[in-house]
Amino acid sequence: MSLYEKTLRPALFRLGGDPETVHVRTLGALAKLSRRTPVALAPVKARFFRGDPVVVAGIRFANRVGLAAGMDKDGVALDGWPALGFGFAEIGTVTAKPQPGNDKPRLFRLPASGAIINRMGFNNAGAQALADRLEKRRRSVVPLGISIGKSKVTPLADATQDYLTSLRLLQRYADYVAINVSSPNTPGLRSLAGKAELNELVSALVEESTTPLFVKVAPDLTNVAIGELIGVCLAHRVAGIIATNTTIDRAAL
Ligand SMILES: Cc1cc2nc3c(=O)[nH]c(=O)nc-3n(C[C@H](O)[C@H](O)[C@H](O)COP(=O)(O)O)c2cc1C
Repeated sequence: MSLYEKTLRPALFRLGGDPETVHVRTLGALAKLSRRTPVALAPVKARFFRGDPVVVAGIRFANRVGLAAGMDKDGVALDGWPALGFGFAEIGTVTAKPQPGNDKPRLFRLPASGAIINRMGFNNAGAQALADRLEKRRRSVVPLGISIGKSKVTPLADATQDYLTSLRLLQRYADYVAINVSSPNTPGLRSLAGKAELNELVSALVEESTTPLFVKVAPDLTNVAIGELIGVCLAHRVAGIIATNTTIDRAAL
């Protein structure tokens, strides 16, 4: 059991209150600490992450443990992740249009199951705001992935244009861009992982991209659907698959 599981997580849980509020405060503290006194985080880095670098899709990751999308959606604590020892950070998911996400509460702790339920719904300040933030800072010392998704108000039929808007604004700042077609919290989003829909989306994004593209998949797909999805990714120049997003299966709880 790690120090995080033994000490830090129980302490954060004991703070009580709304888990999202705790998350936002922790993120704010990390952002401040890493800006002002990054050396304070060095013991954590030394304790946890001593892995070797690995190259995937031509990208040299400092180690195999990275920050998953959704933890720092608007990229507010970018210096914090390498300071803690993460080998890469995936920020986002951001959408072409800023949006508030689902109604609160939308994040729930299930301590007895060692789990959380997330119904955030892509709360984010939008792709332009993230581009503005990234423009003002130096490049991340570890690879930066940027996850893009569909704005809730955009009809599914216009999804490709919505993703293209985010790709065009953000790819120059990213070491890779993740195409999120697997969140369960935007109505209809997962239908974009179907064969025909994914083919349309991925072919347009690949055409426009100057950076490696990864497709993030749901863990709830059938074997047939996984086969079709991989077929589409291979047919285009998709650099990799990110497995996996949040499940909608509650059987293990
Ligand atoms: C609070 C929360 C928010 C998340 N937001 C995103 C997101 O914006 N984009 C995304 O691709 N995945 C998001 N995820 C999914 C994680 O990146 C990761 O894929 C998932 O949590 C892994 O599944 P597991 O938690 O069952 O291990 C989120 C997860 C949580 C818990």
